[in-house]
Amino acid sequence: MNYNRLSGRSRMSRSLPILGLAWLVAFLVGVLAIEGGCATDPFSDTSLKQDTRLTKGPFLLGVYPDRAALMWETDTEGSYKLYYGKDGRLDKYVESVPETNQSGKKAVKKVFFIHKVWLEGLEPGRFYDYRVTGAGFEDKIYRFRTVPENTDEVRFIVYGDSRTRPSVHRRLVELMIKQKVDFVVHCGDLVTNGDKYGQWGQQFFEPLRGLAESVPVYIAKGNHEGNNGNYEKLLVPKGQKNSFGFDYGPVHYFVADNVTKGLKDEAQLNLIIADAAASDAKWKFVSYHVPSLNFGGHWSAWGYPDALPGLSKAGVDFVLAGHSHMYERFRPIAPPDGVEGSYVTYITSGGGGVLMHSIKPNVYHAETMKKHHFCLFNLKGNKLTMDTIDIDGRVIDHIDVIKNAGRLDEKYLRSAIPMKEMLDFQQKNLHR
Ligand SMILES: [Fe+2]
Ligand SMILES: [Fe+2]
Repeated sequence: MNYNRLSGRSRMSRSLPILGLAWLVAFLVGVLAIEGGCATDPFSDTSLKQDTRLTKGPFLLGVYPDRAALMWETDTEGSYKLYYGKDGRLDKYVESVPETNQSGKKAVKKVFFIHKVWLEGLEPGRFYDYRVTGAGFEDKIYRFRTVPENTDEVRFIVYGDSRTRPSVHRRLVELMIKQKVDFVVHCGDLVTNGDKYGQWGQQFFEPLRGLAESVPVYIAKGNHEGNNGNYEKLLVPKGQKNSFGFDYGPVHYFVADNVTKGLKDEAQLNLIIADAAASDAKWKFVSYHVPSLNFGGHWSAWGYPDALPGLSKAGVDFVLAGHSHMYERFRPIAPPDGVEGSYVTYITSGGGGVLMHSIKPNVYHAETMKKHHFCLFNLKGNKLTMDTIDIDGRVIDHIDVIKNAGRLDEKYLRSAIPMKEMLDFQQKNLHR
């Protein structure tokens, strides 16, 4: 007994310093955690993400020289403020009153609140910080840069079809984050079924975390986005349409909707052509979801037979689409004989996550690949390079082309396909 007591006391006295040390460590951790939670440095990244009430976003829908469009979603009611400013100050704000949306079946309905704002009166080429705040809540501070006024450089990514397998999409986004681009264009098919509201967070917003807060993602609506308005509610800025153009340095880009029910193909094609023809940018890019040239997967020929000659006449350089799940780059298509126009390069970039289609290369392809990937463009004045990067970070295709006095270099054009030959081949394969 004595022995046991003595022995117990002895164990206790040996444990006391250890217990004391454990308390001290716990106390210090607690103090540090409180310090972290109350961080006064607005740029510290230790902020309140664990307390965030944002269920989606913040997500940059567009950035221009003097304005930017943002969205976020919460599951709590009430107005929110977005504080923003340059030079490390958050001295301006916009207030946002949300639009509601519902998810789930009637019995387990959950209401979400979608906030969309424009930040106006910005200066070109400047970094702006911003923070979303609600009643008793502050999100992290993020930073974006407005489009510079006088630059002849731009760096951007184009990809598509990231739906259904968010883990693959996420792996690509992690590679994209490292590329430090000015913007991203997504060629559509963001979710398996866009009419189901619950899919948008998991399949689209979550994988894009870490990128879309700082870099605008411009989207060409895909057929999987659905027709019940979820896409428009979440991703089209107030006052903007599904089809829109923007400029960045030497590039004019037009992003078009060619999938929404009720739209007329001819009208949409005319819209794209008119927009490109009106721009005097050095490089003209177009993206829409269903491709006009695609041999494999869905074998799409959107806008046949007017798209190819029309886009050439309007001076378009690159057309990037998705829909078919593959990487497919065509040799440039020459303008019709005797007609003035550009040599257009068509790319199907439908490898953002969804299961891939097989593709059989033919004589019109410059490169094809059944691999998840994105296209990285670098433009500086007359020079354009593109690297297509696969999910393992390897460059699987590369273009290097120079444009002088409006004409691409001979080396690139040597591989061009005559327009008539291309249209004839498409005609034979239209109803596969
Ligand atoms: Fe698709
Ligand atoms: Fe599609």
